[in-house]
Amino acid sequence: MSNVFAKDLLVGKVAFVTGGGSGIGAGLARMLAAQGCKVALLGRTKEKLDAVAAHITETGGVAKVFPADVRKYDDVAAAVTGCVAEFGRLDVVVNSAAGNFLSPAASLSANGFRTVVDIDLCGTFNVSRAAFEHLAKTGGSIVSITATQAAVPTPLQCHAGAAKAGIEKLTRDLALEWGRSGVRVNAVAPGPIEGTEGMARLAPGDMPDALRKRVPLGRYGTIDEVCDAVLFLVSPAGNYVTGATLLIDGGTSLLGAGPFLDLMG
Ligand code: HXC
Ligand code: NAP
Repeated sequence: MSNVFAKDLLVGKVAFVTGGGSGIGAGLARMLAAQGCKVALLGRTKEKLDAVAAHITETGGVAKVFPADVRKYDDVAAAVTGCVAEFGRLDVVVNSAAGNFLSPAASLSANGFRTVVDIDLCGTFNVSRAAFEHLAKTGGSIVSITATQAAVPTPLQCHAGAAKAGIEKLTRDLALEWGRSGVRVNAVAPGPIEGTEGMARLAPGDMPDALRKRVPLGRYGTIDEVCDAVLFLVSPAGNYVTGATLLIDGGTSLLGAGPFLDLMG
């Protein structure tokens, strides 16, 4: 856990984290709990959520799991309602649930494209929409995890790129509409983050070293570094920030598609 910020910045607050059962979402859930939030974890696999909740509980935090698919609005709304019933309020929403795989556009099925857009973009809308009325009561905020593919054309990633670009546009639209209600809406766009399912899927085999050389800062990012960016946005430090997408990519996107061109062979 990073020590960049003061401790206990979010004591008394409640966070709802999708994709909280693994990777970046699990790291974010643990960080939010360590900062004092009671945390609700949503994902499809109860066992993964239970493991993260157990770790949070063992380290002195409070967590409850809500197994659900972000594509199903009624289930998402029930989970948000359950979170508020359990913890009494809602202050922070993190949209980290996503699906991704490598596929050439020319052989990607319509259902494959739709599936990723449905999980990433529609899932982010579903959770944000269900949470809004609760966030408006507390002056809460939303952070959605996008990716550099949203802005940088990336081979074998047309589905994920379109979905993440959609989330960044949705972020600006929701920030505009919900600002008067005191709800801030932002995004964080990571580059390659070490030790994650995302990188295992996108850069298998010998690719990591080749990719690492194409990152201006010369290394992968860490889950802790993504957590620090999200903490900045949801903490009082970010109180006048809304509609923003914060790149946490070691400069990767400065090179355009460069870092990922090797994916094309
Ligand atoms: C081509 C594929 C495919 C693949 C699935 N499909 N995998 N097409 N290549 N490797 C197609 C299927 O053939 C099907 O289309 C459609 O997608 C739906 O597949 P299902 O398996 O039925 O979907 P579902 O069970 O809902 O699973 C969704 C999933 C899966 C995205 C396909 O991989 C998943 O659940 N992923 C969650 C975890 C994950 O992806 N984590 C990585 C996030 S990281 P047809 O036409 O056959 O019906 C990330 C990194 C970002 O986003 C950037 C890093 C820099
Ligand atoms: P991950 O561990 O696979 O995290 C994705 C999580 O989303 C999983 O826990 C998964 O759990 C959940 N999920 C998937 N589909 C879902 C659905 N339909 N409903 C509810 N939950 C669902 O991958 P990660 O690499 O940590 O990625 C986390 C986030 O960071 C994603 O938004 C990703 O796009 C973004 N990102 C990652 C990187 C990277 O380098 N890893 C870079 C840029 C952006 P279940 O399968 O159990 O549901």
